[in-house]
Amino acid sequence: MAFLSSKTGQFTYFSLQLGERDWRGKNVLDFGGNIGNMLRDRNCTIDPERYWCLDVVAESIATGQAAFPKSHWIFYDRYCFFFNPDGARDLELPPLEVLFDYIVAYSVFTNTSRSDMLDLVKQLEAKLAPGGALAFTFIDPRHSSWPGRYNANNLVWRLEREIFLEKEKGNKLDIDVPGLAEQARDAEWFVLVNGEDLYLETEQTKHYAPEQQRTYHTFYTAEYLRSLFPRATIVPPVNDEMQHCCIIRK
Ligand SMILES: C[S@@+](CC[C@H](N)C(=O)[O-])C[C@H]1O[C@@H](n2cnc3c(N)ncnc32)[C@H](O)[C@@H]1O
Repeated sequence: MAFLSSKTGQFTYFSLQLGERDWRGKNVLDFGGNIGNMLRDRNCTIDPERYWCLDVVAESIATGQAAFPKSHWIFYDRYCFFFNPDGARDLELPPLEVLFDYIVAYSVFTNTSRSDMLDLVKQLEAKLAPGGALAFTFIDPRHSSWPGRYNANNLVWRLEREIFLEKEKGNKLDIDVPGLAEQARDAEWFVLVNGEDLYLETEQTKHYAPEQQRTYHTFYTAEYLRSLFPRATIVPPVNDEMQHCCIIRK
């Protein structure tokens, strides 16, 4: 079944991270924006006609277009584990008629390979207008997002979440949470596939047929992400969220 996002609060998140509440008059690209939940945020100040959403899930683009016909909706048929398993690998970004003041990507590179992230960030930077900013989120596995309310780190949260989501579907995900957390403890980055297969500092995974693809989560420590993007500013989560933000300004 196609993935349609029910997550909200993305506009509030990025406006806090970028230090700007008033986005009127700005061209915005919501990369991996799915059905455009940024526009549904009650704090949103984006002009609908200046909003572009690009996603690899065709149904999300059709849904967004029906709700916000003045905005620009582009299906990008690039491969992504689970989200678009039949898409083309390494497909270039489509031509876009404008440059952007803000390019945001909420929880997109948390679900792609590291090499996809490196390729796409480079291509997206080229779409920034002078003075523009690219902001994308990532998950630091060692960070504890809600101390006092939930004391374990983001990796343990994800593992427990995967067990819960499978249980909701009537399945039992038989994983050793403390054991996996211990294995990943010193890794600077890693991939967790289907909530159970851990690949430390490599994206060479075994083959998963499309019907076997459930989830693909990539984690980076903040220090490691800084080493990948030395020009970027890395900021911790805001808005009671768990994702860090990487901001690259032009
Ligand atoms: C976890 S969802 C987040 C959706 C949306 N940003 C939100 O916050 O509601 C990840 C999204 O990234 C999209 N995606 C994955 N790879 C992509 C790529 N290479 N280009 C564009 N979108 C991509 C997925 O289709 C999915 O909609």
